[in-house]
Amino acid sequence: FFLILCSTANSIVKASFEDEIDIKRSDFPEGFLFGAATSSYQIEGANLEDGRSLCNWDVFCQIKGSIANGDSADIAEDHYHRYMEDIEILHSLGVDAYRFSISWSRVLPRGKFGGVNQAGILFYNKIIDNLLSRGIEPFVTIHHFDYPQELEDRYGGWLSPLMQEDFIHFAEICFQSFGDRVKYWCTINEPNLVSEFAYERGTYPPAHCSPPFGNCSTGNSDVEPLIAVHNMLLGHAKTVKIYRERFKSEQSGVIGIVIHSFMYEPLTEDKLDKEAADRALAFNIAWILDPVVYGDYPPEMRRYHGSELPKFASEERIILRDSIDFIGINHYATLYAKDCIYSSCICNDSICTKGSDRAIRGFVYTAAEQDGVPIGEPTGMPRFFVVPRGMEEIVEYAKKRYLNKPLFVTENGYSSPQNQVEDYHHDVKRINYLKSYLAFLAQAIRNGADVRGYFLWTLMDDFEWSNGYSVRFGIYHVDRQTLNRTPKLSASWFRNFLSNRSPNY
Ligand code: NOJ
Repeated sequence: FFLILCSTANSIVKASFEDEIDIKRSDFPEGFLFGAATSSYQIEGANLEDGRSLCNWDVFCQIKGSIANGDSADIAEDHYHRYMEDIEILHSLGVDAYRFSISWSRVLPRGKFGGVNQAGILFYNKIIDNLLSRGIEPFVTIHHFDYPQELEDRYGGWLSPLMQEDFIHFAEICFQSFGDRVKYWCTINEPNLVSEFAYERGTYPPAHCSPPFGNCSTGNSDVEPLIAVHNMLLGHAKTVKIYRERFKSEQSGVIGIVIHSFMYEPLTEDKLDKEAADRALAFNIAWILDPVVYGDYPPEMRRYHGSELPKFASEERIILRDSIDFIGINHYATLYAKDCIYSSCICNDSICTKGSDRAIRGFVYTAAEQDGVPIGEPTGMPRFFVVPRGMEEIVEYAKKRYLNKPLFVTENGYSSPQNQVEDYHHDVKRINYLKSYLAFLAQAIRNGADVRGYFLWTLMDDFEWSNGYSVRFGIYHVDRQTLNRTPKLSASWFRNFLSNRSPNY
């Protein structure tokens, strides 16, 4: 009884503390962009309409057992037909910017093996023009996980260097068609995560993995993620070179890359665990950002992987170096890191990335708990523990390692734990999450970090990849039968926050 009383008291103290977080828009610098983010595949639907071809995800969804509850994104949120309603919602929220992505198979249904689909160009023109006429800045991701299946069939997608040319061609079409109005470009979304899920864990297409992951028998988890990232990095760098040489002076936009960024804290005070946390950051974040800022992979990775890690030729290093105008970080959660080189690691599927993960992640075991105490509250996503201080820590890490390069938080948001129906509309936990993460972001900015904007993930409940519709991240609820959008309490909070009327909602 005493224990129950204590823990109840604790949660009351915690809840009231979070309620008291008084974060205001005016705590952020003048000109700071606030927005919401989505991606094409997760919301558009209309997957075979107006000339769009099947993409890698369409084909993956058809394979039994790949998506929770057998869901697919054939209809998704039907944004392709309801985009005007969604733009009105964005406008009513008062956002400065909207981050969305372009469906590769809508614009270039056969990649570089076929022509441009004008219906696709028209669709994104309508989105961009309607955003601009409402004073909303388009913030465009060129590639967010989906590509034409033909490119997978022809040469195995990102495992092939040929994919670089395809990506460059796609990006050029985007600059030519939309660059007169789009001033913020992200080349690729989360190369680090997609390579892990697609080529190591086997949970994203093309679902490659090798033991000890799942029942897969295709692929080689030790090297494929490294090769896929290598091709994505070169595709990114060559694209940026073209943008800067041929488009930038006329279009005067900026271009960056977006990474998935867990924060890692050492599981114990032990020096080895501290080193493991540093390695985890290097193997996840610096894996992508060191090449695009400094021109090569982090020394930490080279040390552990040796010749397994692909090498950049000297002319490649030159084009990679300084190939971003800004860093985009998607930050949601923090994990503990424990050394696995010298100590033995006990693995449990949900919290331990075992086996070949050691090769990719620098012999680090990631954990949710220390002495039975969780690092933060769980959410609807495995490993996404709520640790608001992580926002300040990750921004600080990027600030130090990349000499305060301009940074955007390109995603941050909360997924309701599954089956918490009361959370669907009265999503107080989401509001507390957003407020506390924003408070730590404001602190990082006060400490000197050059953060230029923040995008909330996500505008409305959507297709959460292998989790299908079972996980809800939206500030608008979407009814799966009617596809009606209704604001959750967090949408009212965000609207008030943006108009500086926080904290009441
Ligand atoms: C990052 C990805 O960019 C986005 O597509 C995904 O829905 C969110 N994280 C949440 O998992």
